[in-house]
Amino acid sequence: SDCTIYRASTTAPVNIAVIKYWGKRNATLNLPTNSSLSVTLSQRSLRTLTTASCSATYPAADSLTLNGKPQDIQSSKRTIACLSNLRSLRRALEEADPSLPKLSTLPLRIVSENNFPTAAGLASSAAGFAALVRAVADLYRLPQSPRDISRIARQGSGSACRSVMGGYVAWRAGTLADGSDSLAEEVAPASHWPEMRAMILVVSAEKKDVPSTDGMQTTVATSSLFATRAASVVPERMAAMEAAIRNKDFPAFAEITMRDSNSFHATCLDSWPPIFYMNDISRAAIRLVHDINCAVGRTVCAYTFDAGPNAVIYYLEKDSELVAGTFKAILSSSADGWDGPFGEPLKNITSP
Ligand code: PMV
Repeated sequence: SDCTIYRASTTAPVNIAVIKYWGKRNATLNLPTNSSLSVTLSQRSLRTLTTASCSATYPAADSLTLNGKPQDIQSSKRTIACLSNLRSLRRALEEADPSLPKLSTLPLRIVSENNFPTAAGLASSAAGFAALVRAVADLYRLPQSPRDISRIARQGSGSACRSVMGGYVAWRAGTLADGSDSLAEEVAPASHWPEMRAMILVVSAEKKDVPSTDGMQTTVATSSLFATRAASVVPERMAAMEAAIRNKDFPAFAEITMRDSNSFHATCLDSWPPIFYMNDISRAAIRLVHDINCAVGRTVCAYTFDAGPNAVIYYLEKDSELVAGTFKAILSSSADGWDGPFGEPLKNITSP
């Protein structure tokens, strides 16, 4: 019998949304209630490295190891959905060309490593599912485009579809019930605006309070602010944000980013029971950004928060000293809480 081990490795970066995805119209397919837009961070800072292999010599069940710990694939419907999509695409190739090795019939072994804390609101699932889907697609030599790959990664974690591409990436919500038009699209490559920087302030590396899927379901079902956000606030902001990126208009980019983060967290507070992701330190970071912008007399930095207390601060390279310097000075002299359990706040995380 064939003892060959077929193997492919890939990395995927973290992305941080500037227009937030919050709300599912279909939780099984991960179809969102609104479009979203993110900046993909540099692979030099936060990324997942994944190796996918398959072999007739492996035990019969697919296996997944994350940061050295075996994961239970059977209990993860999302992982199963991604793998079965990829397998059926491979099967189609094998049926069309019988000379191809029958990889679709072999057990998979997937090994994944993050170079940052997992599930700390640092978008680990986005990089994780993007890398998993890409690695298996490469292993299977699938001809699918990044758009097609993003559609599959979306089923693992919604935000993962945006980590399939670099630079400034929109996730178009789509309207079709089967999700075939709900996928990522590059708005601009990273090289379009290479001065963009992101700094992550690690307020806490603990696992998040309310998992994003549960939080979204509660918000969609109970928040009275939510419907307006999804129906009109976000669509207008998507258009304005795409224009800001095209024109490299940082003040516009920054204002939309901050307002959209605030709007997302407002719908969380407006949920019943209310959901809190930000804490006192997060709010101090918000005040500091507004104070810096006010003191300088122009918009030099913007904050955004995902489903956790950690702040991501966007700014331009020319203002690095001002922004990173001010944060650093305040952080190192302030009370505990900023550094988190793994040392210095991460900083100067640049787009690729
Ligand atoms: O992809 P999920 O299910 O982990 O949801 C991510 C939701 C936010 O990070 C809060 C917003 C976003 O657009 O990334």
